[in-house]
Amino acid sequence: MANQPKRKGIVLAGGTGSRLFPLTIAVSKQLMPVYDKPMIYYPLSVLMLAEVREILLISTPADLPNFRKLLGDGSQFGIELSYAEQPSPEGLAQAFPIASDSGFLEKGDSSVLILGDNLFYGHNLVESLVRVSSLREGATVFGYHVTNPKDYGVLEFDEKNNVLSIEEKPELPKSNFAVPGLYFYDKKATDFARALRPSARGELEISDLNNCYLELQQMRVELLGRGTAWLDTGSYSSLLQAAQFVEVMEQRQGLKIACLEEIAFQRGWIDRTELKEQIVRLGKSGYSHYLRGLLH
Ligand code: TTP
Repeated sequence: MANQPKRKGIVLAGGTGSRLFPLTIAVSKQLMPVYDKPMIYYPLSVLMLAEVREILLISTPADLPNFRKLLGDGSQFGIELSYAEQPSPEGLAQAFPIASDSGFLEKGDSSVLILGDNLFYGHNLVESLVRVSSLREGATVFGYHVTNPKDYGVLEFDEKNNVLSIEEKPELPKSNFAVPGLYFYDKKATDFARALRPSARGELEISDLNNCYLELQQMRVELLGRGTAWLDTGSYSSLLQAAQFVEVMEQRQGLKIACLEEIAFQRGWIDRTELKEQIVRLGKSGYSHYLRGLLH
């Protein structure tokens, strides 16, 4: 394990967010609030909990300056954050050519891609993330039971529960198991993504990339149980529900979800002095008050 190359993380935070218009005409969807913090904190927290510290954030040319203003070089969270542009939203699998052309992903790197509008929370999630992240060959995606599989990539199983295919937004879904926006890949992802052709809707589909691994029998699918929350935040209702979910959990427990400084401090990636700097930066907010509590 000691000599293994590290896994690098990519957050895809571009897109048009058209289902949320007019909210997202002037502000990126992934900078919208989800209760007490910007949406982008949630996917970043997932990567950090998977112990991924080199992260590329991909967004639109118009929105990148705001992400930089919010997150900087990531040092306040004990991570190395870099940025790349996706000039137009031509599909999730385009993350790999972009990450490779920008010099972030080098030959031989394994990676994890997370969508900037996906929120994960639940029992055993951290253990599962760390375990999956330590695997180096093949790819891993997850399966999650939903009421509206049509809106996602959908898993098809045989009678022994082996996964046969992943269909992108099918009219007639073959199961209720959707693939959430969190994908772990070995070094082959960029080459596979470069060979993809746009789908009928004109996008480089992540399901097509996943099917490359399935054909090679190098795709693992882990089902996330009922104890896990996977929320996406692409519509008015789902955005509000995500905020309410976070509010309920945080108020009940007095513990924050996706507090990036807390994750970094607990792991020893930032020290007390650096944490105090963030407390000052965040002023009189409840978030700052919470960070102050971590010092004691
Ligand atoms: P979507 O929800 O499919 O698209 P969107 O965010 O543009 O929203 P809408 O359908 O309302 O217009 O995207 C899922 C996530 O992936 C989201 O975080 C945006 C991101 N994304 C990109 O960064 N680049 C892309 O090319 C696409 C298709 C999505």
